[in-house]
Amino acid sequence: MASGPLAVLLEGALQRRGGLLESLHAEGTDSYRLFHGIAEGLPGLTIDRYGPLVLLQTFRERLEPADLDAVEETLKKGLPFAFSLACSHRGPGYDRPYDEWQRSRLEGAEEVECREFGLRFLARRRHRGIDPWLFLDLRAGRRFLRGAASGRSVLNLFAYTCGAGVCAAAAGASEVWNVDFASSSLEVGRRNAALNGVGAERFRTIQEDCLPVARQLAGLPPGGRRGKVGRFQRFEPRGFDLVFLDPPAWAKGAFGAVDVEGDYPSLFKPAVLAARPAGGVVVATNHVASVGFDAWADVLRRCAEKAGRPLRSLRAVAPEGDFPSFDGRPPLKIAVCEV
Ligand SMILES: C[S@@+](CC[C@H](N)C(=O)[O-])C[C@H]1O[C@@H](n2cnc3c(N)ncnc32)[C@H](O)[C@@H]1O
Repeated sequence: MASGPLAVLLEGALQRRGGLLESLHAEGTDSYRLFHGIAEGLPGLTIDRYGPLVLLQTFRERLEPADLDAVEETLKKGLPFAFSLACSHRGPGYDRPYDEWQRSRLEGAEEVECREFGLRFLARRRHRGIDPWLFLDLRAGRRFLRGAASGRSVLNLFAYTCGAGVCAAAAGASEVWNVDFASSSLEVGRRNAALNGVGAERFRTIQEDCLPVARQLAGLPPGGRRGKVGRFQRFEPRGFDLVFLDPPAWAKGAFGAVDVEGDYPSLFKPAVLAARPAGGVVVATNHVASVGFDAWADVLRRCAEKAGRPLRSLRAVAPEGDFPSFDGRPPLKIAVCEV
C-alpha cells in the first residue's frame, strides 16, 4: 500500500474530527476513534486513542513499515498531545508483523489509563485478538446510562470489563450487577470501579453465564439441557430499573449459544422480564453489521409483546461522530426500550 493516500485519508479524518475532539476533551474524554477505515476509505484499518496510547489495528491486509511511518508522522503533525503508537494485526496470518517496527518505539507499561466523561478506565496496549478493555463505539450507550442511571438499579449483562456498569455507578446508580462468565474481565471491571471510587456495596460482579442469571431474575427456568449444565448460581426473580444488554454477535455456552442474528429473543425476553414492569428500561445492542435497525427493532417489539410486556417506546441511539457511517447503517445498533 502506498503511504501517500493513507496519509491523505488520515489527515482528512483528523480534520473532520477537529470540533468533536475539542468537545470530547472538554468533557474529560481522551478515548475515541481517530480513523474508522470502513467509512473513511480503508476498510480493515482502525486507529483509536486510549489516553496516552494510540492503537492502530489491521483486520485485513497488513501495512508496510513505510505506511506505519506515514501514519506516525501524520498523527504527530495532527494531534495536539504526546502519544505512543502501538500496532496490532488481527487479520490473516496473526504473526505479529509489526513487532520489528514498534520494538524501539514502545517502552513502558503494558497497561494505560484512559478517560471517558472524566471517569478512569484501564486499557491494554499489547493484545493479540483480545479487544482493548474499553469498547469505544459503546460510548453512546454509556452516555445514555450517565444521564439515566442516577438512583436506579442496573443489571449489566455481558459486562466484560464493566465499562457500562462503572459509568452507571459513577452516575449515581443505587446498585449495579455486572454479569459475565470471564473472571479476568470482571477483575478488570472491579479495578475500573475502584479507580473511580465506586465501592463494592453498590457494585456487584457475578461470574456466571448470563442466560441462567437473566432467566432466573426474569422468573423463568434457568434453561440449558438437563445433564449438560453443571452447577450455577441461584437468583430470586426481581426487577431492575435499567437492564443493559450488550451481547457479542455469537458465543457458545452451556446454557445455549448467544446468537444475536439468529435468535435475539432468547436474550431479549429475559432482559425485558428482568426490567421493572411499567417504568423499567432495557438498553439493547446489536453488533451484527448485516442486520438493519428497523428489522431488529421489529424483532424486539414482537418479542416483548409475546412476553406480555409490550414496549411503551423504542428509540435508536446512534454511535457518536468518531464512528461515522456514511450509509446510515452503523454496525453497532443501540435501542432504548421502555417496558
Ligand atoms: C462484546 S463483549 C461485551 C462488552 C461489554 N458489554 C462492554 O460494555 O464493554 C462480550 C462479553 O460477553 C461475554 N460472554 C459471552 N457469552 C457469555 C455468556 N453466555 N454468559 C456470560 N458472558 C458471556 C464475554 O466474556 C465478553 O466479556
